[in-house]
Amino acid sequence: MNKLKELRIVDNFYQTSAFFPMPTTLVGTVSENGQTNLGAYSLCFPYYIAGKDYYAMVLECRNSSNTAQNILRNGKVTLSFITDERKYFKEAVRLGFPGDTTEEKMKGCLFTLVDSTLEGNRPKYVGESYQVFECSWASDLEDAYLDKAGFLEGYEPPYRNFNGITSKFGAHFILKIDRILMQEKYHSAIVNGVKANSFPRVPVDYGYRDSTNFWYTRFTKPVAEKIPARDGDVKSVIYAASRIDPDVKFTDEACANLVKIPRVFLKAALTQMVKIAKEEGITLIDEKALTVINDKRRQEKKK
Ligand SMILES: Cc1cc2nc3c(=O)[nH]c(=O)nc-3n(C[C@H](O)[C@H](O)[C@H](O)COP(=O)(O)O)c2cc1C
Repeated sequence: MNKLKELRIVDNFYQTSAFFPMPTTLVGTVSENGQTNLGAYSLCFPYYIAGKDYYAMVLECRNSSNTAQNILRNGKVTLSFITDERKYFKEAVRLGFPGDTTEEKMKGCLFTLVDSTLEGNRPKYVGESYQVFECSWASDLEDAYLDKAGFLEGYEPPYRNFNGITSKFGAHFILKIDRILMQEKYHSAIVNGVKANSFPRVPVDYGYRDSTNFWYTRFTKPVAEKIPARDGDVKSVIYAASRIDPDVKFTDEACANLVKIPRVFLKAALTQMVKIAKEEGITLIDEKALTVINDKRRQEKKK
């Protein structure tokens, strides 16, 4: 096997010392004169995905960028995910040239800008995107609302750890997701079941870049990889089910239907089932009751 060789870790390691798969987003923010500014950003990832009061993304950017300054001022953001067309990536690279003012860069912009229908002074989003996240900056985290726009030559310490101004030239923004919008075709795929041909043409930004080029790959058809069926032992499900609550019991047949739940999630799933059973006045969970309970669980998930 090939030996792996060590590389030095330097500033912007993800693009100087690595190949790092990333999305290509156009971040919409509201400029001082009310115009929508689009900046190209790849360092944009899910941050709070479950277990909090809201869902959030994190965006990492240069704090002197139009985007960072606008977020510090207005806090409203659209994340438009573009497809893999050469002309779109070319335009993203143009919108990613540092130092252009909003007026300069948005003059003759290739993309169609669409108004948000949410309340407040929101930026527009890119109509050609396959999906859009409309977001609000969670400026309460780490008291980041204390950070103000206007210091374009670099911010002085102290710096925050993960939200707001995080270094002399850097900023991180935790963005609460207010709404996810999706093109009809992909929306219906997600709701009705995704097949290999119902994926949007997602480009992958390679991370690595040099002074001449950004590099990305165009879309190829996704490959499906089956999740291995690892049926648990029905005896262990019966044992776990009998220990959840003295007032709600599971039949062995119901337990046999639950062997596919991975062991690490079993207790949480059984606990949720018992909770719903109690709400429904069910004391014995048999196969029929399980169908009712699972319908409720699905509905709760959808909510
Ligand atoms: C494909 C692509 C991805 C980029 N990703 C980032 C990023 O994640 N963070 C960042 O600070 N700059 C990134 N840049 C550079 C910014 O786009 C650049 O700083 C630009 O000036 C931002 O525009 P703005 O000043 O209107 O916000 C990227 C550029 C391109 C072309």
